[in-house]
Formats: sequence, structure tokens, C-alpha cells
Amino acid sequence: MSEQLHLAPPPIWQSLAEVESAARACLQCGLCQTRKNVVFSSGNPQAKLMIIAEAPGRNEDELGVPFVGRSGKLFDKILEAGRIDREKEIYLCNVVKCRPPNNRLPLKEEIQACEKYLNAQLELVRPALILLAGATAVEAVLHVKDPISRIRGTWFDWQFGAKVMPVFHPTYLLRNDSKEVGSPKWLMWKDIQEVRRQLDLLN
Ligand code: URA
Repeated sequence: MSEQLHLAPPPIWQSLAEVESAARACLQCGLCQTRKNVVFSSGNPQAKLMIIAEAPGRNEDELGVPFVGRSGKLFDKILEAGRIDREKEIYLCNVVKCRPPNNRLPLKEEIQACEKYLNAQLELVRPALILLAGATAVEAVLHVKDPISRIRGTWFDWQFGAKVMPVFHPTYLLRNDSKEVGSPKWLMWKDIQEVRRQLDLLN
């Protein structure tokens, strides 16, 4: 007799609050054993711009809020350079909602276990613009493995009419401190001006 495959239907959540409480109770990968907090999101769910990064680090795990550590401080400066209000103009989250031990890269199975939460966030926020900070976010959303240095600063057409731009991850910028013309930081500052321009066009 052939074995029956019983695939669970994808969950249908009506609100971000429902998605968040499911994520907070999640036990579907090993990260639930070491996390202190589930880091679900911050910012404005009505924002036109959604920023997706990789996974919480130590400070984020302690506080339950994305981008509050060293890379968060740089992230704030980048947003300031684009005159983007962190609380009002963006909805911020990570591909993986729980901290990988020692800040290692999230594993494939961890990304897969968390995919439903990210998809639901995208579906319920429906941003017009999406920034993908770093390779993990680019792979999870655009399903491409191109180097960020090649595709950053480019808008890709995505689902529900959204435009998606890969950008450098702030942690990478912390390791590449030069602000010389053409350096990663210089390019990031240029990219954020383009994001500001697109936001202004939408307003
Ligand atoms: N790095 C990330 O990718 N996300 C955070 O929230 C913090 C650091």
C-alpha cells in the first residue's frame, strides 16, 4: 500500500497580532531552546517600506527588538541619512525570529521553519517597497544567490506590485568602515537616498 502524505495546509492568519503570537509560541526549530525572546518586528505595520534583515543578535535576543545592538546603531545612522523615521516610515523584521547561537548564520531548516511568519508579515503589511539587508534576506525573498555587491541598489519587481532592493547588511558595513567614493558605506548612503526618493514619490 502506498504511503499517504499528509501535508499541513499553510496557516491562515487574519492579523499580525495572530502571526506574532504563533511565532512567540513556536517550537519548530532548535533555536527555540536557546532564545530568550522571539524578535518579531518593530515599526509601523502601515508603513510603505519594509526592511528585512537576517536574524536577531545578542542584544536583540535580550530585548526582543530588532536592530538595537552595534549594527542597530549604524542602521539608525543610515536611516537618518535618508531622513527615514524608524518608528513611522518602516516596518522592520528579520528572516529568522530567534537568535542563532553565537550569531552564526541561520541554517536552512531554521529559515524554512520561519518562512511562514515572514510570508504572513509580507502579506499583511503589503509594503510598496522592500529592502533586503544581506544575503540571507535576498535568498529568502528573491531566491537568488547573486553577490550583494552586484545586485545592491537595483529595484526588482516583486509580488503585489512591490519593488524590492537588496542592500548591504549593517554588520558588513561595520567591518568595512571606509567612506571613500565607491566603498560599501558610500554605496549604502547612495542607496538610502534612492529609497527616500521612492518614498517621496509614493507620498
Ligand atoms: N542583525 C540582523 O540581521 N538583525 C537584527 O535584528 C540585528 C542584527
